[in-house]
Formats: sequence, C-alpha cells, structure tokens
Amino acid sequence: MQGLAPSDIFLFEDFRLDRRGGLFRRDDNGAFVPVAIGSRALDILGVLIERAGEIVSKDDLLAAVWPETVVDYSNLTVQTAALRRVLDRGRSNGSCIQTVSGRGYRFIAPVTRSAVGACSGTPVSAHEHLWVFSRDGVEPSVLPANERSSEPRPSSILSAERRQLTVMICDLVGSTMLSSRLDPEDLREVIAGYHRAVSEIVAGFDGSVGNYMGDIVPVCFGYPRAHEDDAERAVRAGLGVIDAVARVDLKHAKLQTRVDIATGVVVVSEGSAQERSVVGEAPYLAAQLKVLAEPNTVVIAAGTHRLLGGLFEYRDLGAVEVEGAAAPLPAWQVLRPSAIASRFEALRGSALTPLVGRDEEIDLLLRRWTRAKTGDGQVVLISGEPGIGKSRIAAELEGRLHPESHFRLRYSCSPYHQDSALFPFIDQLGRAAGFAPNDPPAARLEKLEGLLARAAQPGEDVAFIADLLSLPASDRYPLPNLSPQRKKERTLEALIRQLEGLARQRPVLMVFEDARWIDPTSRELLDHTIERVRSLSVLLIVTFRPEFQPPWTGQPQVMTLTINRLDRRDRRALVAQIAGGKTFPEEVVDQIVDRTDGVPLFIEELTKSVLESGVPPVGIPTTLHDSLLARLDRLASARLVAQIGAAIGRQFPYGLLLAVSDLPEDELRVGLAGLVASDLVFQRGAPPDAVYSFKHALVQDAAHGSMLRGTREQLHARIAEAIEAHSPTRAVRPTLCRGRARRKICRLLGQGRPEVGRPLGDGGSGSATAKRAGPAGAAAGYP
Ligand SMILES: Nc1ncnc2c1ncn2[C@@H]1O[C@H](COP(=O)(O)OP(=O)(O)OP(=O)(O)O)[C@@H](O)[C@H]1O
Ligand SMILES: [Mg+2]
Repeated sequence: MQGLAPSDIFLFEDFRLDRRGGLFRRDDNGAFVPVAIGSRALDILGVLIERAGEIVSKDDLLAAVWPETVVDYSNLTVQTAALRRVLDRGRSNGSCIQTVSGRGYRFIAPVTRSAVGACSGTPVSAHEHLWVFSRDGVEPSVLPANERSSEPRPSSILSAERRQLTVMICDLVGSTMLSSRLDPEDLREVIAGYHRAVSEIVAGFDGSVGNYMGDIVPVCFGYPRAHEDDAERAVRAGLGVIDAVARVDLKHAKLQTRVDIATGVVVVSEGSAQERSVVGEAPYLAAQLKVLAEPNTVVIAAGTHRLLGGLFEYRDLGAVEVEGAAAPLPAWQVLRPSAIASRFEALRGSALTPLVGRDEEIDLLLRRWTRAKTGDGQVVLISGEPGIGKSRIAAELEGRLHPESHFRLRYSCSPYHQDSALFPFIDQLGRAAGFAPNDPPAARLEKLEGLLARAAQPGEDVAFIADLLSLPASDRYPLPNLSPQRKKERTLEALIRQLEGLARQRPVLMVFEDARWIDPTSRELLDHTIERVRSLSVLLIVTFRPEFQPPWTGQPQVMTLTINRLDRRDRRALVAQIAGGKTFPEEVVDQIVDRTDGVPLFIEELTKSVLESGVPPVGIPTTLHDSLLARLDRLASARLVAQIGAAIGRQFPYGLLLAVSDLPEDELRVGLAGLVASDLVFQRGAPPDAVYSFKHALVQDAAHGSMLRGTREQLHARIAEAIEAHSPTRAVRPTLCRGRARRKICRLLGQGRPEVGRPLGDGGSGSATAKRAGPAGAAAGYP
C-alpha cells in the first residue's frame, strides 16, 4: 500500500489538514496538537480547501459529504458553524469560510499543498500491519476518515478479537516547518529515514507498525502476539525511538520525536483487504496525549503507568485538561529505566503482605544456609510457574537473614539483554558501586575501585572488570593486550575472585533471578561459580520458570526446589490478608479461591480488583491480561482451539469440541496437541474419548474473553445444539463455562428441549453441528 499523495496534506494559517489520514492539527507554539472536530465538519473542510477560492455549491457539498443520503441544508449550516468556531478563533478579519448568498461557500484563506505526503510512500513490508485507529462509536478528528470501517466486520473468531493493547504514537516534531524549508526530494529522504528508525526499533521489541500517516507512526504492542510485558516493551521502544530518530544522519536536519503511549481494551479486526483496524480508547488516548509530550519525550497514560509500576522513573504531569477529552487526563513523562535491583521489587513494590504458607520451603533454605556458612557451599534451584512465588521466597529468605552479618548479591536476567554478555553481572556491579546516571567515567571508575577493594587487594582484576563496565582503563591498572578469548577468561576469573574474596570475610547469599533469560557468557560464569561454590561460604539461589532446563542438577551441592500452588486454606488466608480489614462475602472468597488455582499472583490481583471495583471478580484484571494472553499467543494454531474449548468450559470433551468447531479434524488434533504440549491444558484419555481441562481457570477466561460477543453467542448456540443432539439426558450443565455464558447455554438448552432418552449420536435435528460430532462425539458422551 502506498502512502499519501502530495495533494493530501494542506497547510493554512496555523492549521494542517491531512485529508487522507484524517488528521487535523493546529500549531500551538511549535507543537502540532490535534483539533477536536467532528468527521462531517472535517469532510466539509476538506472539500472547501481542495477547491479553495472557488464557490462550492451547497449541493456539491452535500453530495460529497453525505453521498446517497438525503439531508437538509441545515446540516451544512450546523457543520460550517462548528468549523468557524475552530478556524476563526484567532482571526480579526472575518471568517475564512465565506457564505456566498444563494450560491454556497468559499474558502478564502491562503492554502498550501504540502509535499510531505510524497515521502510517506515508504513501502510497508509484509511484516507490518496496517492499522486504522478509532474509538468505539466516536471517531475523533485525528483518525483517518476514509479508512474507518463503517460497518462492524462479521463476528467470526478469525476476523476480530478483544485484546488489551498498548498503543504508541510517534510523531515527528516540526514536520510542517521541514516541509516548507526542504526540497521535496530532501524531505522524502528525511521522512523515510524517520520511518526506518522507528520501524527498526519497534521490530526489536516485537511491536507492529501501523499505517504510516506522514509524520505519524502508530505502533501496537500486544497484537498479533501478546507478551507479558507489552507495556514495558512499548516504553522501552519509545525511549529507543527518540534516541534512534535523533541519530538519523541527515545533512538537512536534526530530527526530534514525541512518543505517546496508552493501554486499554480494544477490538482488533483483520480485514479482507489486508487491513487491520483497532477500535477502542487506547489509540484515542495516545493521540490526546500528544498535546502534553515535549519534543524528545515519552508520555504515558494511566493504564500504561499502572502496568509498569517501578520499572521506570517518571515525572508526574498531573491530570491535564486536553481539548476534546471528557475529563482531565493523568499523564506521566517517562524519564529512564529505574535502578531498582529486580523486576520483582519494581513490579511488586517493597510493601509486601506477610508470607502465607511456604514454611517447608523456607526451612529448607535456612538449613542450606546453615551448611553454607560453614564453608559447605550450597546451590538451590527454585523452579515454578509464573507468579507462584519464587522471587517472594527468595525475598523472604533475605529478610530472615537480615539480622545476620553476611553479604547479599542480587543478579537479575532481563528479557531485553539476553544477547549482552554478562548483563546481570554488569548491572549488579553498577548498582553495588552506586553509579548515578550522570556520573562521568572517572567518577564511576573510582566508585568501582572502592567496591572491588572490599573483596580483594586492587590489582589487574580492576582493569578487566572496568573494561567489562565499558570504563576507560586507569593509569594504575592498565588493561593487558590479550586476545578476546583470553580477555573473557580473565574477566570471568576476576569475577569469581571477587566472590571468593567476599566469602572469605562473611557468608554470601547470592540470588540469581530469572535464569531463563540468561546470556551465554553469564551461563558460563554461573557454571564456574556453581563448581567453585562447593568450598565457599556461599548459598546461591537460582530462580526460573519450568521451561528452563538447568544444566547443574546432579551435583552434590545442588538441589532443586519446585514451588507448588497454595492449598485452599492458604489461598483464603492470602485473600484475607490482601483485603486488609475488609471482609468479603463468602461466595466472593470462594470465587477467588477457585478461579486462581493457588497461584499467589492471581490471588493478589483478583483480590485487588474486587477491592477496587467493590464487585465479585468479573473478567481478568488488566495486570494479568497480557501474561495470560501471551501464553495462548505462543501457539497461534492452538489459540482458536483454546477459544472454542473455553466457550465449552474449564473441561471440554473432544467430541463436543469437534462438533462445534469448523476445523478439519486433523487440524483440531494438532491444535489440541499443542495446547497439551505447552502445558496449557491437561488431557485425560485419547481422542475420540479424550477430555481436556484448562490448567488455569484464568487462561480459560482469557481465551473466552478474547472472543467478540457475537462470536461467543454463535458458539454458545452451537454448543447447546450439540449437547442437545448428543447428550440430552446427561447432566452436562455443571461442567460448562461459568457466569453469563453458562446461563446462556443453559437457557438455550431449555428452549425446545428434545424428548428425553434419545440415543446419543442421533442428532434428530440433523444439523451440521450435530452430524459432525458423529460417533466420536457420542463416544465422548460429553461428561
Ligand atoms: N506465599 C506467599 N504469600 C504471600 N504473597 C505471595 C506468596 N507467594 C507469592 N506472593 C506474591 O505473589 C506475587 C507473585 O510472586 P513472585 O513475583 O514471587 O512470583 P514468581 O514465581 O517469582 O513469578 P515470575 O516467574 O513472574 O518471576 C508477588 O506479589 C508476591 O509477593
Ligand atoms: Mg520472579
């Protein structure tokens, strides 16, 4: 798809209208801010401007703006009045839209056609997605008028989904000025360089670049693939975009960007014309924030801020009145990633509720600590699913050891630094040395020397570690000239010597978090450390999720501790603790206890959502949404199967699934195998008699909630039909999905129930759904 034609962008007075993109903005002291105006008024303005200086008859305007609809001239009067209110605000010499009595309207202000659009023809690669941003029902003026989908697309599982998305809008600062200053060819080069810079950064964070709208680049995080950290990805990408655009090497100009980010639930539609639309509040909010973002800053809305916790440092911009917004918008400028030691601390904060259960795990760790203190070094590998409490247990141990004299070393692997050698160690050293963001290299070197001196006499090791931290060699400890391989070996040796030096003085608790993101060189260093720890006063704890296969098991000093789900008593205790003094009705506590399957993170977030909303938990808390959907998105082929299964219930039998899905049977089996292999569902028996159950009720809810209302309704009807046809006498209702969906299916089942006792497999209705289940469906018997 090609970008804008040159004639699509018009400049007049302080305004800039991008007709094709539907963007109408005003220059507000150098910042182009969106102007809130209805789409009809914008269309009228477009026609008048296109024919500026000419009289445009009312009939021509009506035909252009309300094609195929008979409307009264009074509509024109209303819309031109709205336009004049916006356009003539600063004018002293009458309106720029002249009424020519009995003949029509004429636009009289001078208009320039910008050449910016010529540059936006940057081809969109196959991996980029074309987005149309809109808001349910209300279409703000910043949206591309002629690309809005006028009709909702048919609700099929494949054509549209409800998702939580983080939307980022990048805006090139001063593009109007550039367009008037530069030759069109140079301008083309500038815009293409800008687009390239944005796309490259966004690709690194797995975001989807939308349809370039000249100097605006919309980006989505969370579709087509969700990640548990989409909001963080967006902000890191935003900070990266600002750097990258500033570095775009152009002889003509130094470029600056503004980046605005908002998160919210949207409907994403896949169009037949390879065009996706995103409808919801997030794109709208991101566009509104534009007014607040200064050049070269990232501004985020409340929804995004909530998901980020302490991962970044912010400047609170307060709640700001924005033209066109219903209420003042709270917003924050993101300054930089925070220096907090771990994701756990950044996301969960330091004010934790008391630990529930886990006595055995803590006892075991304390016993290992006692052994480690005597020089019999120990390694405990803590494994468990996301949110089960691995970091919490490590933090609890740190707390318990607080009164004892020891050194504590904390290392965190990061999904963003899996390719940077020794990142967890570099990061730990920087924090321990107390590097400040603006420290010059000499000051950092001095701090580092002070830190390293605590473990050992300063020597050549300082040079290797300083080099690791990209600090210049000092005169005192020059870096020997070695091959890269030898240099790496000497660096690893220096780091091990540091640990040995500390352990000689006091016992060391070393916590190494999130090993699934470990880089290869850190892995190598950890191999050496685990080997060396045997004869040191060190307890090393390594945490990771089950998908990481630790290579260190089998050694005598190493043990694995798998963290299991909390039992029902502990779940209730955790709910009560998070609720503080508030008492929930028993059935609400039961719901939380049932839906969260003993995962403390889920219990925490569901309880908080009840506290905030004051109603029983419905839907999925925004804080869990990305992480739950990410699990489904990892398996594109299986997601559809999971969605259909979810509409049936926590448990779904093969036969019923086959009956209600349109998928060919072999595809269905492949999808199911994928779900089982990725541990999202358990399987009992083999097809056609197999019964599947979601491992987590919340994953089922996420799959169910990602379907549009219409799709769900269609599925529920099919499910009811299939149940009726094949299992009229079975007590199926209790195993169906919960809440409204279940009530709906039960209601459908109640309507026109067939006579009791019809044999299984005899569809009666003869419908395709019923027939499809065939003997497999009958054999499954829909438990
Ligand atoms: N036993 C517990 N008692 C009270 N709160 C808990 C308990 N276990 C975990 N939590 C809380 O649950 C949340 C998730 O725990 P945590 O971050 O430790 O999980 P994790 O297993 O490290 O997850 P990840 O794999 O994402 O790192 C935290 O807020 C933590 O404080
Ligand atoms: Mg953790």
